[in-house]
Amino acid sequence: MRLELRVISDRGRQKFTIEAGENLLDVLSRYGYDIGAVCGGKASCYKCKVEFVDPVKPPTPKDISGLSKKELDENIRLACANFIWEDSTVRVKDASKMEVLLAAKEPEIRQQSTSGHEHLVVDIGTTTLALVLVDSSGKVIEAHGRKNAQAPYGADVISRIKHASQGGLPDLNKAIIGQINLILKSMKNLNLDRLTSMTVLGNTTMLHLFLGKDCSGLGFHPYQGEFLATQETRGKALGLDLDLPVKTMPNISSFAGSDLTAGILSLTDKSEKYKLLVDLGTNAEIALFKKDKFFAASAAAGPAFEGAGIKQGMPAIAGAISSFSLVNGVTRIKTIGNLLPVGICGSGLIDIVAQLLENRLLDETGHMLLGPQFEVAENVYIYAEDIREMQLAKAAIATAVDMLIAAANVDFDDIEKVYLSGGFGSYINAANAARIGLIPKELSDKIKVAGNTGLSGGILFATDEKKRALAEKIAASATYIDLAQNAEFSQKYIDYIMF
Ligand code: FES
Repeated sequence: MRLELRVISDRGRQKFTIEAGENLLDVLSRYGYDIGAVCGGKASCYKCKVEFVDPVKPPTPKDISGLSKKELDENIRLACANFIWEDSTVRVKDASKMEVLLAAKEPEIRQQSTSGHEHLVVDIGTTTLALVLVDSSGKVIEAHGRKNAQAPYGADVISRIKHASQGGLPDLNKAIIGQINLILKSMKNLNLDRLTSMTVLGNTTMLHLFLGKDCSGLGFHPYQGEFLATQETRGKALGLDLDLPVKTMPNISSFAGSDLTAGILSLTDKSEKYKLLVDLGTNAEIALFKKDKFFAASAAAGPAFEGAGIKQGMPAIAGAISSFSLVNGVTRIKTIGNLLPVGICGSGLIDIVAQLLENRLLDETGHMLLGPQFEVAENVYIYAEDIREMQLAKAAIATAVDMLIAAANVDFDDIEKVYLSGGFGSYINAANAARIGLIPKELSDKIKVAGNTGLSGGILFATDEKKRALAEKIAASATYIDLAQNAEFSQKYIDYIMF
């Protein structure tokens, strides 16, 4: 039986004909609504909230366990926990058009290049997508950021691989290609006579999904996809609305992608001392390198830094609390875009935990001393469960850093700088990151915040032939150290859980 579903959102009212019994989240995802379904429909993130306008539906057991009494009274339900059996009207908050503020080293934006070629550089993160137009010297002419349109299929790489392996590869591919086409259409400075190439970087899975290649092998042992090396094709062949040469950057391994290659490229120099780069994300990618020696590892940190798994967590987008301080009982927050706070992104989370520790409201085991929640700002709270998520995430990263350094046979003293990067990279407070033990304490005074190093490396790759060759060398010669195979990992991990 066919039914009518009416959806009210920022886009206005839209009507869709659907089959009776369809899952509401599936329908909304199919029609391009992003309602923040970060767990991909597993009814565990409680973020896929919609309002049933007509008819009102009694709550399901999953609604009752995930929503507050007030929300239930206001007819809010979880889209993933509800199926449509009659003509219905729902109201949704669509985040797919939400502008993501680029957390790159704030690029110098200039109006229009006066001569030479121009390039597009696309950084496909699991959570966010950044696209910049640069001139031949690497200066940014125009920059765009969005939440990755694949988000309704799951917050992390593993759920996207799973969806792709179950016949969903075309959905994921179309979502990202369609999103890039939409951005291209909105760009004001595209000059087709000057535009010569598109460079794309991201983790190994994101590049497979962008190229429409089978990534199922990345989901199980021995974790191998179809490619690691640079891939070259044309925009039209991928379904892009621009027909230009497209190059993806080379990956180091299945779990150390081209975003890490690009990050190393943006920071490497002739120094005899090592640098450590930690790219924070659901899958933290870590590099230890100097001159022509490159080591890489990765750590499954969980999605806490991307805002998932945290009750009021969110990516680093407008309205997210990006910094927090608590001095003499007075709290101060900063939000991205200076908007009213609606949630907490990764850098805000690091600050909150550090400040609670400093003010002795949290003990070294992670126990909150004033009760199970703390009000960070009006209507925004951090909960005991969030602190636990954060402990697991930071312990995974600190353990991976410690073990990578040991495996590479390097002393802490041989490391001159520790760079923290990521989607919210520019907002991180280095002292607070050190306070929560994100990095082993021997390195805490060497931490430097580096912004989006992947995007910076992508711009170098697009505009400088020598850097292109260097990126190939980095990816081909880097030693990937598989920490999951190391028996010491779990013991060290437990030690690092303490603050
Ligand atoms: S609870 Fe519905 S998608 Fe996570």
